[in-house]
Amino acid sequence: MTKRSQFVTKTGVIAATVGSAVGLGNIWRFPYEAGVHGGGAFLLLYIVCIFLIGIPVMLSEFVLGRATHQNGVGAFRKLAPRSPFRIVAYMGIIASVMILSFYSVVAGWIMEYLFQSIEGLFWNVDAEQYAERFAAFISNPWRPALWTLIFLAMNFLVLRRGVEKGIEKISNILMPVLFILLVIFCANSLSLPRATEGVKFLFTPHFEELSASVVIGAMGQAFFSLSLGLTCMLTYASYFSDSTKLTQSAVLTAILDSLVAILAGLVIFPAVFSFGKTPEEGPKLVFEVLPSIFAEMTGGHIWSVAFFLLLFFASLTSTISMSEIFISYLVEERRMERQKASILNTGVCAVLGVLCALSFGPLSEFTICGKNIFDLFDYVASNIFLPCGGILLSLFAGWALDRAIMRNQLTNDGRLSARWVKPLRFCMRFIAPIAICIVFIYGLL
Ligand code: PHE
Repeated sequence: MTKRSQFVTKTGVIAATVGSAVGLGNIWRFPYEAGVHGGGAFLLLYIVCIFLIGIPVMLSEFVLGRATHQNGVGAFRKLAPRSPFRIVAYMGIIASVMILSFYSVVAGWIMEYLFQSIEGLFWNVDAEQYAERFAAFISNPWRPALWTLIFLAMNFLVLRRGVEKGIEKISNILMPVLFILLVIFCANSLSLPRATEGVKFLFTPHFEELSASVVIGAMGQAFFSLSLGLTCMLTYASYFSDSTKLTQSAVLTAILDSLVAILAGLVIFPAVFSFGKTPEEGPKLVFEVLPSIFAEMTGGHIWSVAFFLLLFFASLTSTISMSEIFISYLVEERRMERQKASILNTGVCAVLGVLCALSFGPLSEFTICGKNIFDLFDYVASNIFLPCGGILLSLFAGWALDRAIMRNQLTNDGRLSARWVKPLRFCMRFIAPIAICIVFIYGLL
């Protein structure tokens, strides 16, 4: 087996896991899901899911990844060769391909907006026209598909360079800048007229509106946003060094990730109400609202270019991590060259991605259970595959994994305090899997 690379620095580990976690999931998906599902109650459930389910599942992935230094399939091969649990690794590969396919479409929309910002196309239209223009763009028969392919090509170029060089450098510099920009936009949105309505929408839970779809949506969003349940964090943890503090990294990643989502909510919702829009717009929400926000700001032109550029990089650090699941499997289990594996991953996602891109235009009539291909991929991967993966990963880590391995991983072979080992293992064995099952059962009733 070839020698595997490692993340070189401690900040590199955090930057890479946060880079995977923070992306369109926080800035595009969170506001749209929160908007569709009534705001406050969704946010509360989402936070509960992050801490009760997300952190234990993330630690399960970290432990399995670093204990084995293998890709998902390899980790199970090493720890429990014939156990049926290994299906989770194959499910993860399928989920990663599905997510990468529709994610690249949205990243393509971001690139279109970046292009429009640079060209200055946002500024000579009325605010009401933003929605129409976006609708015209996504229903165009070729433009969104072309951007999807361009994005996938860029993702491919970064992938070829391997783990530490490409990912670490990019995310080390850009994530903090994105964070600062969001804080500035947030201050701006909060100063808009009727901003408080948006804040109330996001923070006041209306439990009378609670329904199965809200609960399932919140759990799916927690998994999606933390990149969990598809062995992505497992694969990343396989590149961690022995001194990486797993618990600390998981908690920090979860906190930073939720913070970015809430900030994005505080940028979007005050503006939604201020510009007289409704929060239930779905995937289009952020794209209809952001141009109006920038148009209101002094120097809006520069802000929007900077923002879409950073968002593009945030998407890229996430798609790189998704791609790594399939690629590391092909390279390590199938002995394929990295270059070929990257081409295969990109090729499959290019075909599926184009189908997703066209599902707002020429393929919009093609629906299954009322969802177009794009929505279907998102729904099935995020709300079903990832939580199912989460159940299996935490059950495996909690019940099947040797207790000593768990302890050694969480304490770095006894160098860190063992205070959290028992409660965390308890969460992996009982709390996380039971909580996920309860949400599913609630959803089916
Ligand atoms: N967590 C990423 C985001 O929020 C998306 C992602 C999902 C990345 C699954 C990797 C795996 O944008």
